[in-house]
Amino acid sequence: MPKRDFLAITDLSRDEILRLFELAHRMKTGSYRETPLAGKTLAMIFAKSSTRTRVSFEVGTHQLGGQALFLSSRDIQLGRGEPIADTARVLSRYVSGIMIRTFDHADVVELARYAAIPVINGLTDLSHPCQVLADLFTVREALGTWEGKRVAWVGDGNNMANSWLEAAQVLGFELRLACPEGYEPNRKLFERARSTGGCVAVTETPEEAVEGAHVVNTDVWASMGQEAEAEARRNAFRGYTVDAELMKLADSQAIFLHCLPAHRGEEVTPEVIDGPQSRVWDEAENRLHVQKALLATLLI
Ligand code: CP
Ligand code: NVA
Repeated sequence: MPKRDFLAITDLSRDEILRLFELAHRMKTGSYRETPLAGKTLAMIFAKSSTRTRVSFEVGTHQLGGQALFLSSRDIQLGRGEPIADTARVLSRYVSGIMIRTFDHADVVELARYAAIPVINGLTDLSHPCQVLADLFTVREALGTWEGKRVAWVGDGNNMANSWLEAAQVLGFELRLACPEGYEPNRKLFERARSTGGCVAVTETPEEAVEGAHVVNTDVWASMGQEAEAEARRNAFRGYTVDAELMKLADSQAIFLHCLPAHRGEEVTPEVIDGPQSRVWDEAENRLHVQKALLATLLI
């Protein structure tokens, strides 16, 4: 069987996502006790900071009987200019899978191309598929299904927004994004989602996106690598804060999601993120269960 990578939500079909979530559910509830990664190692390359991704992959690998290696890109030869292709070929001789968090998505594609083992995208400037998988699992837990649901995205059309577009494309729920002009999601991914049956729309008005939504989602206004733009972005995103008033426009059972880390008082008020509709701690926990299911599926 050829190796399978997970670089984007669209690498999985709807049925594969459903099967993955059944396995993640068994892992979460404790009925799955196998150790399919016994004797295997996951290399984790990080060119950016991380709390959730690093810890959930490391703990998850351990719980499945394997070992995880934390490789800061500053400390391996990759950071001194060793080609990605060479790094991929060498790591493939030692480990069973690579998880990578970096800037340029093309670097992850290149790594996957030259690696003989599965490569998992742990976040790039373009997308964050592991997080959105966990978010979809959280939606299913909280609302039973995403079928027929409306998901709102408020704020930056960033890596998270792009992965939500891919999820809407594969799963067919309605996605409405509210982004200021100039901060829309990736145009190619948007057009592809729209032209392949995804029910996706972009507006500049948060109220329009949130009206009747079952899931309200946001993320930081300046992502990792955009620190120098933080001030300009604070100005551009004025009016895009998810607050209690905006949440009132959503469905009365709506849940609030945020991939974290959050900036309270910027993209979301403390009242919302720490309030009764927030599912952010379940969402963070679900990274562990969903990624374990992914590792047990890909690294066998
Ligand atoms: N949500 C997320 O990926 O968090 P980290 O940056 O802490 O990994
Ligand atoms: N959009 C954020 C997500 C962090 C998990 C970033 O890229 O920094």
